[in-house]
Amino acid sequence: MSDFSPLAWDGDAVIYIDQRELPARVVHRRAATTGEVVEAIATLAVRGAPLLGAFGAYGVALAAADGTSGQALREQALRIRAARPTAVNLMWAVDRMLEAAEAGAGSAALLAQAQAIHRETRETDARMAAFGAELLPAQGAILTHCNTGPLATGGAGTALGAIIAAHRAGKRLHVYVDETRPLLQGARLTTFELRQAGVPATLIVDGAAAATLRDKNVQAVLVGADRIARNGDTANKIGTYGLAVAAAHHGIPFYVVAPRATFDFTLASGDAIPIEERAHDEVRALGGKATAPADMDVYNPAFDVTPGHLLTAIVTEYGVLQPPYLESIATLELRPRLLPRAEEVG
Ligand code: MRU
Repeated sequence: MSDFSPLAWDGDAVIYIDQRELPARVVHRRAATTGEVVEAIATLAVRGAPLLGAFGAYGVALAAADGTSGQALREQALRIRAARPTAVNLMWAVDRMLEAAEAGAGSAALLAQAQAIHRETRETDARMAAFGAELLPAQGAILTHCNTGPLATGGAGTALGAIIAAHRAGKRLHVYVDETRPLLQGARLTTFELRQAGVPATLIVDGAAAATLRDKNVQAVLVGADRIARNGDTANKIGTYGLAVAAAHHGIPFYVVAPRATFDFTLASGDAIPIEERAHDEVRALGGKATAPADMDVYNPAFDVTPGHLLTAIVTEYGVLQPPYLESIATLELRPRLLPRAEEVG
C-alpha cells in the first residue's frame, strides 16, 4: 500500500493509518478482529463517513474469514454498525455485507464485496471531484470545515477532492481551513492533505470563520456530510450549521459534496438523524493538557444538522442536486447503484 493510503486489505487483516497520530507521525496499524475494528472506529483512528463504510465492510469480511457465520456473524456486524451512530455510510456498507451473507455469500465472496465497496468509494470520489471542481470559480478563496480529503474516504475525498481537482485543473484557489474543534481534523488532517496536493491554504480557528467569510472575499464554502435526509437536511461535523448560517448571511454559495451512500432515504428530515455525543474530556483538555476545570460540565455533540434550505447545491457522483431537494433527492434514490451485488463479484 502507499504510505498515505488510509486503508488496505492485507490478506488476514486491514491495515489502516491511525489518524490520531497525524500530522506528527504516519503510523500504520492492523485490525484483525471485529473488536479491533470497533475500537479503531470509536476512537477515530479511522474516521470520515465513506472510509467508515469501507472499513466496516472489511470488519464483516474479517469476521467471516475467521469462520463466523449465521447469527454470530450478524451479531458481529451489528457491533460494527453501532460503533458510531451518525455517519450512515457505516450502516449502508454493513447492511450490504449482511445482505450478501444472508443471500449465501461465503467468506471469499464477502471479502470481494468489501473490496467492491472500497473500490466504489474511489470511483464515486473521482466523479464527485469532477462535478464539484466545475462549480468552483477560476480563482478566489474557498472555506472548508473538518477533513473531507483522501484520509476521510480512501479515494480522492469529497469536498476536499473537488477543491484539489479544481487546483489540478488550473484554478487558482486559496483554501481557508477551519481547525475543527475539538479533535482538530481540519488543523491536523486537511492542512496536511492540502500541503501534499500543493494547494495554498491558511488555517483559522473555528471562531474566525464568519469574519473570514466577510473579510477575505470567500467565493464558496465546501463541506462533506455524514448523513443527508430526503429534504436535504445534512448532518456534518459540529460547526457546519453555523458556517451555513454565516454563508447565507453573506450571500456566499454553500455546497455539500457527498456520495449517494451518505443519503438516508428513510428519513423525511434531519430531525431524526442520531447525533453522536462524545467524551467531555475532548473539550476539557487539548493534547492531554487540561484547558478547563476537570469537573466542568460539557456539551460535546460531534455533529450538527444544517437545514436543507441553507444549501446552494449538493454534489454527488450522479451530478449536482439543486433545490427543491425533496424532488432532486427522490430522483437520486431511483439511480441504479454502481456497486455490483455479491453474487456478481464472488
Ligand atoms: O468525526 P469525523 O472526523 O469522522 O467527522 C468527519 C466529518 O464530519 C466529515 O465532514 C464527513 O464524514 C464527510 S467526509 C468525506
